[in-house]
Formats: sequence, structure tokens, C-alpha cells
Amino acid sequence: MKIKVRDITMFYEDHGQGIPVLFVHGYPLNQKIWQPQIEGLSDIVRIITPDLRGHGESQASEREYSMDLFAEDCAALLDAIPITQKIVLCGLSMGGYVSFAFLRKYSSRLAGLILTATRASPDSETVKQNREKAITQVQSEGVNKVIDNMLPKLLSPLSMAHNPALVNQVREIMQSVSSQGYIGDLTGMKNRPDSTPLLPTINIPTLLIFGDQDEIISIDEAKRLDSLIPDSRLEIINGAGHLLNLEKPEEFNTIVRDFLTKKII
Ligand code: MLT
Repeated sequence: MKIKVRDITMFYEDHGQGIPVLFVHGYPLNQKIWQPQIEGLSDIVRIITPDLRGHGESQASEREYSMDLFAEDCAALLDAIPITQKIVLCGLSMGGYVSFAFLRKYSSRLAGLILTATRASPDSETVKQNREKAITQVQSEGVNKVIDNMLPKLLSPLSMAHNPALVNQVREIMQSVSSQGYIGDLTGMKNRPDSTPLLPTINIPTLLIFGDQDEIISIDEAKRLDSLIPDSRLEIINGAGHLLNLEKPEEFNTIVRDFLTKKII
């Protein structure tokens, strides 16, 4: 479905009924990564999956895509649909950075939080430099080299070697992101603030789901979140990489279903 949200047209899918769960994808992806959650969880909750601006079928804009800007787009999308009741927010990786921005601005709109394959800490100097290099690469050569570098980090070695259908699906999703999307995300992530001070103030049930084969976010980051968020529960999926919801959809959905039924619904 397409809807006018602030200065852009946003695409989102909307399935099921009940408490709304807003699923926010990571970089450089789109809402299609949430297909297994739409299929496996929309019998108990209402699932809203937007394409962030510049990704998938949502319009791009020529500016830095700060995590605040994405959070404001998500809140404006809820207003436009309209959804006024409290929601559960689920953010994967960059979607987690957006979730922290959403929490800073709109905590009263949240009934629960699911953070997956993400971190609260800001970029190190080395990561900032790598983001700069990727921006230059997209500007001079397009997105393909960045995709080639990034794709093997998104999936576990096992999926990379033995699941060509999943590898192709993720590549197609990465190709759906505009170059403004890549540059906007990279700049926005590079400039994002440290969300660590926010963690002890989170006063809603929070589920943390991480893959033990994630090459981008370590389990130490997960443990750090778990130690600082008051009402958190940490679940680690063995054999899963960064896109754990796609690689291990059944395990992921079982964990989310259990959290939603015990803590939220
Ligand atoms: C993501 O998956 O959203 C990104 O890998 C996050 C990052 O690069 O920090």
C-alpha cells in the first residue's frame, strides 16, 4: 500500500489484527525481509512493515537519512494509517538504531520493544571511515561493489554456501535500494548518537534476539543491551547470522510469539 507521509510517498504492508507491531528493516534492505514474520505471526498481531524512505518502493529524498528522520517518518506513517493505540516496535540492525530514535521521541506510543541484531553504541572511527569509503564507492561506481562486500556479512557461512535461493533473495532486496538510500543510510548511521544512556530508562518489556554467527553485531553487544535494559530478555539463535529472521524464521517467530503472548497481548 502507498500513502503520503510528510514529504514522500511511503510503501508499507499491513496484515492481521490486534496490537500493531511495526517492523523496521535494516541497511541496505527493505520491508520484504519481514515476509516470514507476516506469514508466521499475523494470526495474533497486526503487522505493519514499511519501506523506509529511499528503500524498496518508498520514495527517496536527497538528504542525510538521520535515524531521527526515519523515526519521524514511522510516527507519521502511524498517524496517516491511522494507528493511535500503543504499538510494539521491532527493529533489525539499522532498524534498531531507528527504534532508539523512536524511543527518544515517542516513548509514550510504545507498549513493547524487540531489538534484533543491533547495538546501542555509536560508530567507531574505523567504522566511520569505512562508511565514507562506501559512500565514495556508491557515488563513483554505483551500488554493486557495496552489495558484493556486504552480502557475505549478512548471512551465516552455511546459508552463503548452501542456500542460493536466500542469497539471491537478499541480493535482490539490496538492489532495490536507491543510491540515495545507500548514501542517506551510511551518512545517517555514521552520525547517529550513542544510545547507551537511553537503555536504563527503557520501561517497557524488551525482547533481544541475536544470531551467534552474526559478523556485524557481536553477542557482547547483545549482552550489554541485556545488562542495561531493566525488563529485557535475551534470546540467541544458534547458526543464525545478521538476518536471523530470514535465516531461522521458525525459531525467530517462536521467540517473538512467546514474548508477545506472555508480555504484551
Ligand atoms: C544493518 O544491517 O542495518 C547495518 O549493517 C547496520 C550497520 O552497518 O551498522
